[in-house]
Amino acid sequence: MSDDGYTGLAATPPMGWNSWNAFGKEVNEAVVRQMADALIESGLRQAGYTYVVIDDHWHGGRDEHGALYPHPQKFPSGMPALAEHLHARGLKFGIYSDAGEKTCGGEPGSLGYEEIDARTFADWGVDFLKYDFCHAPDDRATAERLYRKMGAALRQTGRPILFSICEWGHHRPWLWGRAAGGHMWRTTGDIWDGWRDGPHVAQNGIDSIGFEQQRGLEAYAAPGGWNDPDMLVVGLRGRGAIGGPGCSDLEYRTHFSLWCLLAAPLIIGCDLRQVDPVSLETLSNPEVIALDQDPLGRQGYRVCRLGRCEVWVKPLANGDLGVGVFNRDDAARAVNVPWSDLEIESRWQARDLWQRADLGAFEGSFSVELESHACCILRLSPG
Ligand code: GLA
Repeated sequence: MSDDGYTGLAATPPMGWNSWNAFGKEVNEAVVRQMADALIESGLRQAGYTYVVIDDHWHGGRDEHGALYPHPQKFPSGMPALAEHLHARGLKFGIYSDAGEKTCGGEPGSLGYEEIDARTFADWGVDFLKYDFCHAPDDRATAERLYRKMGAALRQTGRPILFSICEWGHHRPWLWGRAAGGHMWRTTGDIWDGWRDGPHVAQNGIDSIGFEQQRGLEAYAAPGGWNDPDMLVVGLRGRGAIGGPGCSDLEYRTHFSLWCLLAAPLIIGCDLRQVDPVSLETLSNPEVIALDQDPLGRQGYRVCRLGRCEVWVKPLANGDLGVGVFNRDDAARAVNVPWSDLEIESRWQARDLWQRADLGAFEGSFSVELESHACCILRLSPG
């Protein structure tokens, strides 16, 4: 274990499911078990989604020794039993706490209880901790100090626990998150289930989070520590606890594709008991997931903008390029991508990762017509 916080965890961006987007306050152990079953039956576990994370509102309180316990009605079997249930199915167990006195939902936070809570989580068999930043003094020095404190407490337990920093990018966690022991750090406020932003702060749409708020952060992502543009809304269809009007199939596909090019953690947020077949197909596309999980661990970046269309590139371990051509416009557009924009020359073989088809060799440029809010995702190989 090196002292920069890299512990071999999160060699590629973490993948899994989290309760918040679909269930909000209404999380309980039956839901978690049903999601585990659904991950397995749908093939999503096989596709790489292994962390099952309980977000806020699992709490009962603190006992006379200061230890947290779960809500007795919501989690009657207790957390160790739930962890065992998930582990027996090849899944990993994630939980949520907060660096302040209370969580964002008003449950007990970990401030002043960092060691005790880290120990409790390790004893329960927790593999992932999402650590929020409500009800804490909101300045950079405090943020860094409190995250370091929990990062150290987790390491101290000796159990490999993936540490997910959630202070919404307020204090530029990409600069210090890794050193604090973090394996991913939120870069934005909360996502909601819509293409555009809603009227409130915690209602960031896919378009602004994905295309605007991640640019320039690519230097900070690498194996062991990732920028986190928040969880996936694919499949929520306007029914999630986080609100939002829902997205079209093409918009969900664009969201998923961009997150993969960004080497973002892929944390599903929809109710997997009733996910529609198109969303399931989107979340399962192995060739697009392979861009996200590429072992080189480079985050994609925008190389050019043509009106409201954009081209993003992600260099891959074998010398291939992941390329996304995106139409953010409200009308269909034709886009021509000259190789000079990608800083490449001569002949490249193109594979369309949504059509799942080889398109043949291209020399000098590539052109595509895109419906409004649609994208074309290519894998380019030299030759
Ligand atoms: C914050 C986080 C969300 C979620 C809620 C839970 O808003 O950013 O992702 O964890 O708290 O209360």
